[in-house]
Amino acid sequence: MRLDLAMNTSEPNLNRRGFLQSCALSTAAISSAPFVRAADPARRYKTALIGTGWWGKNILREAMASGRCQGVSLCDVDANNLEVAADQVSDLNGSQPKTYKDYRELLDKEKPELVIIATPDHWHALQSIAALRSGAHVFVEKPTGHNIQESRAVLKAARAGDRVVQVGLHRRVGPHYQSARRFLQSGAVGEVGMVRCFVHQGGGKEGPSLNSAPPEGMDWELWCGPGPLRPFNSRIHPGGWRQFLDYGNGQLGDWGVHWLDQVLGWTDQRYPKRVYSTAGRSVRGAAIHTAKEQTSDAPDHQVAVYDFEGFTLTWEHRMFAENRAEKHSVGAYFYGSKGTLHLGWKDGWTFYPTGTSGKTLHEDAQIQEPDGHNLKLLWADFIEAIEQKRKPAADIEPAHRASVMAFLGMISCKVGRSLVWDGDREEIVGDPQATALMGATYRAPWQMPSA
Ligand SMILES: NC(=O)c1ccc[n+]([C@@H]2O[C@H](COP(=O)([O-])OP(=O)(O)OC[C@H]3O[C@@H](n4cnc5c(N)ncnc54)[C@H](O)[C@@H]3O)[C@@H](O)[C@H]2O)c1
Repeated sequence: MRLDLAMNTSEPNLNRRGFLQSCALSTAAISSAPFVRAADPARRYKTALIGTGWWGKNILREAMASGRCQGVSLCDVDANNLEVAADQVSDLNGSQPKTYKDYRELLDKEKPELVIIATPDHWHALQSIAALRSGAHVFVEKPTGHNIQESRAVLKAARAGDRVVQVGLHRRVGPHYQSARRFLQSGAVGEVGMVRCFVHQGGGKEGPSLNSAPPEGMDWELWCGPGPLRPFNSRIHPGGWRQFLDYGNGQLGDWGVHWLDQVLGWTDQRYPKRVYSTAGRSVRGAAIHTAKEQTSDAPDHQVAVYDFEGFTLTWEHRMFAENRAEKHSVGAYFYGSKGTLHLGWKDGWTFYPTGTSGKTLHEDAQIQEPDGHNLKLLWADFIEAIEQKRKPAADIEPAHRASVMAFLGMISCKVGRSLVWDGDREEIVGDPQATALMGATYRAPWQMPSA
């Protein structure tokens, strides 16, 4: 089934050796992470957080715990979230932070040295670029934009300003993910011919929710920003925007980027040559968007196929039926001539050898709870990258490539055919309709950044 979606709606080329060297570098950085040797270990950076929702607060907690932040300021268009985050800051450092509704005013008045961006995806590019142009180093959440053109524009701004951009792909530094990568690269899995990335979660039919007035203290118009101005609906904010294609890219743009990035971190190839995706809403039901009520509109299941030289990568997600028939509900299976490696999240990694004589091998996850992440390591690497003037572990360029893979999957699904991708030129070959979907039309007065 094809998803019927309305259409309106100077990192060097890293070869495997370069990659291994960069792995070794980041492994060394990580093992010493809590004891970062800084030029001046007492140096504290003026820090701002834009987007004080669930994940923004998680990042800020780790940033402040590192002891390297000062003069924290906060920005959110929802005064309720802003207040909760301000209380968190004041509990942690005993002083009330400055708060803002408009990120442009915060950047102008506070002139932060570090800016954390944890807003919905349709804001990542504009806010990252504004922060970079103000001279700040940026820690921005994945994906690196809402579409390919935005993501390219962030990469360009980062390189033009010579600033560090760490993307929130904490799996790049997570210890069990790194050891799985070493296991794969040791040849223990054999020749890997196929990789399957996936997330399966339970669910069912989705009934519409009534639109309502935005909560008091919320600037909904500014929340929508460059995206379409939909009626407010608690299904969208907070958090639910991921499943609304005006602001997110469904499961592929959310979960997918992490696992596609793990594959790009393992292979010495930088991009697929061809992409095909199909998707639908067979269980959730047709999307509803009226003046009275709304459902989400992202697919409830999707398959995307990425052709690489020598192996095939698939992405699949379901928002029903979970995956109880198999052991794992999230992660990546690497299928090799010597067995299958499952690289998971809270379940660590497990290697299932072919045949019956080999021993199953397993390593537990090493993640922080709540929420199962490795933000402490990622933040430490961010600060170290700034001080050592090197690229961070989740640098904007590889993160851009992982995000682009997700965007290409969504474009293929929208046009209903496979795409030939020229990754060196970052062009979809011979398909003007698909090419048009590499960018978007912004709502005035916002202007699409040029890439
Ligand atoms: N790396 C990870 O593992 C991971 C995990 C969870 C979330 N995330 C990412 O974190 C980001 C935030 O996700 P979330 O779950 O916290 O979403 P959320 O909806 O809970 O929070 C987003 C916040 O941004 C605010 N916001 C929206 N527009 C804004 C603007 N123009 N200026 C300032 N604030 C604005 C919202 O009001 C809200 O408080 C997303 O990009 C998501 O992909 C990453």
